[in-house]
Amino acid sequence: MALVLGIESTAHTFGVGIVSDEPRILADARFSYVPEKGGIHPREAADSFVKNAPRVLREAFDQAGVSIDSVDAIAVALGPGMGPCLRVGATIARALAAYYGKPLIPVNHAVAHIEIGRMLTGAADPLAVYISGGNTAIVAKHGSRYRVFGETLDVALGNFMDTLVRELGLAPPYVVGGVHALDRCAEGGKYVELPYVVKGQDTSYSGLLTAALKAFKNGARVEDVCFSAREVAYSSLVEVAERGVAQLGKSEILLVGGVAASRYLVEKFRALAEYRNLRLHVVPPKYAVDNGVMIAWTGLLLFKHGVTVEPERAVVKQRWRLDSVDVYW
Ligand SMILES: Nc1ncnc2c1ncn2[C@@H]1O[C@H](COP(=O)(O)OP(=O)(O)O)[C@@H](O)[C@H]1O
Ligand SMILES: [Mg+2]
Repeated sequence: MALVLGIESTAHTFGVGIVSDEPRILADARFSYVPEKGGIHPREAADSFVKNAPRVLREAFDQAGVSIDSVDAIAVALGPGMGPCLRVGATIARALAAYYGKPLIPVNHAVAHIEIGRMLTGAADPLAVYISGGNTAIVAKHGSRYRVFGETLDVALGNFMDTLVRELGLAPPYVVGGVHALDRCAEGGKYVELPYVVKGQDTSYSGLLTAALKAFKNGARVEDVCFSAREVAYSSLVEVAERGVAQLGKSEILLVGGVAASRYLVEKFRALAEYRNLRLHVVPPKYAVDNGVMIAWTGLLLFKHGVTVEPERAVVKQRWRLDSVDVYW
């Protein structure tokens, strides 16, 4: 049996997970940075990670009931993400690996979102819809890599949602009780015309953001703005996903990343799945958002295929694209 400890620190969450290859999740400890106002301030987030890392690490070992001696390898998300945040996790992982003489495994955060989704849902060869604060991509495995078959031309879906509710004075906090402020505000809203943009297989949300805020300034009701912005944003994503499955001949869709925790978005995809006779897999909300378990699990897959990196070569890559990573499984 192999045990891998994984460290996540790409943006707002410092997480430590420990998994075994059964597969079993032995530990899932997290600290989340929540800005008092505005978006993520990378340096503030990194400072809060430094303060909380020892506690989170200790909690992970306590949950698993193992010491570091039983851990076979240390995995770390080296990118993509925010430099100051990434460096906290990378520094801790390098130190642990070097001091305890454990192999160090470089994990791509985006690949990890997909792999934890596949592991937890049993999806075999899906079209993955990866939607989070920093990414919006339609992805499928082709040969030995994940390939991007569509993405946002500007801001990511989660970033669009967070910015909109913040500018409307509805957040932070962005998510309360598992419901995003945009989904909550949209209840009872009516449609007002907003620009719907899909170019080929790509989506776009920045024009929608500007138009939604303008509509609000011009007197549209906040629930109508939220409802309409959400409908346009979610529908454009469903459209490119539908074309993606048709073109690639896929029979499964897998939703991963923080926004996959939106049950309203899931409903839209469920309708598509029924209409197209597809199997819809959705990563459980707890593992939709960033966590250490997904890094540990992907680290374990890489470890089994002999992928390791020397600590002195384990540099962070803020723009590490998922389609540049070889996947051997
Ligand atoms: N229940 C939810 N419904 C909709 N969006 C959510 C929900 N929970 C989190 N999100 C969004 O997911 C995004 C964070 O995704 P995550 O994968 O954790 O981070 P990152 O994009 O930094 O990797 C944020 O934009 C957040 O608002
Ligand atoms: Mg993420």
